[in-house]
Amino acid sequence: MIGHDVDRVDGRIKVTGAAPYAADTKIPGVTYGYLVTSTVGRGQITGMDTAAALASPGVLAVYTPFNPLKLFAYVQEQNDERLPPLQDKEIRFFGQAIGFVVAETWEQARDAAGLITTTYQQQPPITEFPGRTLQKFDEVEEVVGAQTLGDITFTASYTTPFQHHCAMEPHATVATWNNDHLTVYTVSQGALLVQRRLSETLGVDPVKIHVLSPHVGGGFGGKWGNWAQVPLACAASRALGRPVKAVLTREQVFAMAGHRPMTRQTISMTCTADGKLTSIVNDGVTSRGLGGNWSESVANWTLTTYASPNIRVTKTIMPLNLGAATVMRAPGEANGSFALESAMDELAEQLGIDPVEMRLRNYATLVPNTGKPWSSKHLDECYRRGAEEFGWSRRAKQVRATVDGDWLVGTGMATATYGASRGQASIKVRLYPNGTASVSGTAADLGTGQYTVFAILAADELGIPVARVRPELGDSTSPAAANAGGSNSTCTNGPAVQVAARSVQTELITLAVTNPRSPFHGKDPASIVYRDGSVSSGGLTMSFGTLLTTCDVGGVEAIGTSPRLVDPEHGYRSFGAHFCEVRVHRLTGEPRVTRWLSVCDAGTIVNTKAARSQIQGAVVMGIGQALLEATEVDASARFTNANLASYLVPVHADVPRIDVRFLDHPDPLVSGLGAKGIGELGIVGVAGAIANAVHHATGVRVRDLPITLDKLL
Ligand code: MOS
Repeated sequence: MIGHDVDRVDGRIKVTGAAPYAADTKIPGVTYGYLVTSTVGRGQITGMDTAAALASPGVLAVYTPFNPLKLFAYVQEQNDERLPPLQDKEIRFFGQAIGFVVAETWEQARDAAGLITTTYQQQPPITEFPGRTLQKFDEVEEVVGAQTLGDITFTASYTTPFQHHCAMEPHATVATWNNDHLTVYTVSQGALLVQRRLSETLGVDPVKIHVLSPHVGGGFGGKWGNWAQVPLACAASRALGRPVKAVLTREQVFAMAGHRPMTRQTISMTCTADGKLTSIVNDGVTSRGLGGNWSESVANWTLTTYASPNIRVTKTIMPLNLGAATVMRAPGEANGSFALESAMDELAEQLGIDPVEMRLRNYATLVPNTGKPWSSKHLDECYRRGAEEFGWSRRAKQVRATVDGDWLVGTGMATATYGASRGQASIKVRLYPNGTASVSGTAADLGTGQYTVFAILAADELGIPVARVRPELGDSTSPAAANAGGSNSTCTNGPAVQVAARSVQTELITLAVTNPRSPFHGKDPASIVYRDGSVSSGGLTMSFGTLLTTCDVGGVEAIGTSPRLVDPEHGYRSFGAHFCEVRVHRLTGEPRVTRWLSVCDAGTIVNTKAARSQIQGAVVMGIGQALLEATEVDASARFTNANLASYLVPVHADVPRIDVRFLDHPDPLVSGLGAKGIGELGIVGVAGAIANAVHHATGVRVRDLPITLDKLL
């Protein structure tokens, strides 16, 4: 069953509206919380007048830093806010949560929030760094690798703007208490992430916190962290003794629920006349929101991509008065690859070497920064197959050489790679008398297809149809499986599903030989064979459903654990190559992506349909990164285009057919399943491939994303 096209098992309930998302949660007596947010970017709150809000119809409570809900400082760092909301009066960013109004209806809460007047002692916010020289305020965090050698052959700087995840489902949390037990329905990339964070800030034992997040409407990193609405809804519900629902507005999501940081990379390279790199230096600068902890290691992709005897990357962090910068699909690597893939193209052109050939000449047969072998790597096959299928050999040698009517036509390519680690996961498989099975773990499905992966792998091991397996995700009371991040879900949870589905067969055989009602009672367990949903011994075969019914037991179950991969000897990554055609209008400068092929080496592919969809979605997101997406900040440090009308993401008309090929090379070292990650791989290199195609079409090299038409005129 592995490696075929399977429809999403949760597809029907999602498109018919039957799948419950956090904000859909209906609890009798629920109240509504509305977040009040700062209207300055930096300073101190000097006063908040809440009298009118408190007197407003339906209002139950107004919490502010002058009347806070008690929240304890977070113990462990996570990619979200540094401090829980309302615990101090300092303003670190525009749109910071400074109040929480709870009322009988959402409209009453929102209207009351509008009646609060806040006074500030303001300071000018710091919101930009391009062109700015390093200041004392800045943090230089890491310098990795050897020193550069030789004369610089090529140097250039590449910049990327703030971006936002723009998941369709906004952040929402519903909290309800039963004595000292909390139940939370919330958006999340992992129920355990919420449970741990809430345990810290509420001061409640995690076993008393039940987190449910069965369906998530997109995450992309923006739901890894727990943002202000999570602790506020829970703490207010505890204080009021009523359930509380809090849903962020779209602008609040932009302001306080994380963004991809702004970056600059300055790449310098030296090489031999035949294009072999002798040194690469990438000085990376990244913004860090003062609301958060996290910063992007933007230059680190340079450490692991091409062979060179000398590679050095640096990281300089510029803290800005913005909410937390956080992980966003291929954090560091989506931006990091734009710079290095552009630079490789520029250097190849300077030397008169074909871009594919340039990459093959610098092919890293060992991990460049450690010298270790790869667990598996077939990137050369990705380049060659991609070039062949795309028709790369017909590419014009000169830039601006192909014109089709009013359109300048160019092609470009780039490398994709992303880490492929395997964490620890436990999964429970249970067999039922009606012949079905459930497979459960705390994992999350953000729209990625993880439900279907669970169903396929359990069905495959149990030898029953996928339709007879019921995957159960997003519940903190399930065995601890992988959170949805780092392209880790399938390669971590998949092997655990397999272990659990094998273990439950042993449990079934034990039941068969020990239960007095069983026709196999008293037999040697070694004589019983499990196959295709049935147990057999001698001439007798019985399906597990019939056996459980005959024995009159409710089911048998087993928990399977797959340990974290610990292998200091190898480097683990997924690989790919992107090839694209871009057309740029001769008169308007409008760029359009018109053809796409991605060839991926990501080990075993469990569900080819959902996997293609993952890569296609990532390429779409990369087209946005390359041509459209940028969040602008005004002088008050407000994200100005904080909505889906003016933050431009690709629409159907912006996206051509995206062809995706998977090489069939299971990685035996990552697991017996052989699956590596695909969730983030697809976006890495996309912006570089497009920038290279734009240059091939027009002769214009744009080193500043997004590549908008004004930069091409
Ligand atoms: Mo992600 S950016 O792996 O949550």
